[in-house]
Amino acid sequence: MADVEVLQDAAVLIEGDRIAWVGTRHEAPRAPDVRAQEVRGVLFPGFIDCHTHGVFGGPRLDDHERRALGLDYKAIAAAGGGILESVRDVRARSEAELEALTRSRLKVLLARGSTTIEVKSGYGLELQAELKQLRVIKRMRETLPATLVATFLGAHEVPPEYRSRRADYVRLVCEEMIPAVAREQLAVSCDVFCEPGVFSIADSRQILEAARRQGLRVKLHADELEGAGGAELAAELGALSADHLAAISDAGIRALAASQTVAVLLPATMIFLGKRTQAPARKLIDAGAAVALATDFNPGTSPTMSLPLIMALGVSQLGLRHAEVVTAVTINAAAALGLAGERGQIAAGYVADLALAPVEDWREVAYWIGREVVSAVWTAGSACPT
Ligand code: NIG
Ligand code: FE
Repeated sequence: MADVEVLQDAAVLIEGDRIAWVGTRHEAPRAPDVRAQEVRGVLFPGFIDCHTHGVFGGPRLDDHERRALGLDYKAIAAAGGGILESVRDVRARSEAELEALTRSRLKVLLARGSTTIEVKSGYGLELQAELKQLRVIKRMRETLPATLVATFLGAHEVPPEYRSRRADYVRLVCEEMIPAVAREQLAVSCDVFCEPGVFSIADSRQILEAARRQGLRVKLHADELEGAGGAELAAELGALSADHLAAISDAGIRALAASQTVAVLLPATMIFLGKRTQAPARKLIDAGAAVALATDFNPGTSPTMSLPLIMALGVSQLGLRHAEVVTAVTINAAAALGLAGERGQIAAGYVADLALAPVEDWREVAYWIGREVVSAVWTAGSACPT
């Protein structure tokens, strides 16, 4: 992960939506039909935000304030706040309203350098409201110049109408929601919030196996607050990623290291929740796991839209080196979405997604904490409006 190649005085040749050639300026192929554009600074592969809950209504300011007063995330959720507050909000909003909110937010992520963004549903928790969120993502894909990857997260929480019959909700997710999402091709992957008190290991296994039968890739919110063996389950099921992992066990670290499953770490979440711990990033990397970083952009635990901020937290909170955080939001984040063959590198054959930071030293991208360092973005070979 620390092996990043940095070219000085570089040139990138783009043909159509792909990178055709990379090298130094004086070796660059010259042809009458090559149009040159000079840029100053450091050109990165477009960043890949591989974990967001980007479709939601309003912010959750009351939760935020209650936490400041000493209540914790699970206590707030048990009192009807938390995810269920966003569920009431999303259910009540029209699709057009949600679309406008989502568009304005995803535009910010893109302007800050995220050219590929994974977006989860999970604030509907009933078939129509989940489909409404996924249709918003589909329309964003058609109208925003970013690559959006949709994930179905119907098992984000047990909805109030199923409080005393959780098994019935799990059955609904498996037998009605997943088949409908797959039939309408509204998502490519399925995720579950696997956490004591939310969905158990057995529930998660049942849901993800149903998703795999319908041709969806799988991922898991695993060991976020209390460890329960989620990382081991993700590795066993061949999940694309196991995400969060602040409470992962040593056995979980070994399981991920021995698998192809990417460990997606979300340092802003623990900070926003006021926790003093973070996922054991160094131990994961040293054991041989592939680590990616993402925003977890959502109204309850991580309202940030900036991957450069996450990179700065990766260095200062997770003990990663600058080169490692660059790998974590490019190549490894692409792998967490099953896209490592075509995104996340400035190399011939890769999609021409690029982010420019007008800085002298590439490490500055993860240094100016809280300052937005990206000044221009290209996707599929074209400059994005800023
Ligand atoms: O990734 N853990 C579950 N889901 C989100 C939080 C969602 C919310 O609170 O709205 C997370 O932290
Ligand atoms: Fe999340």
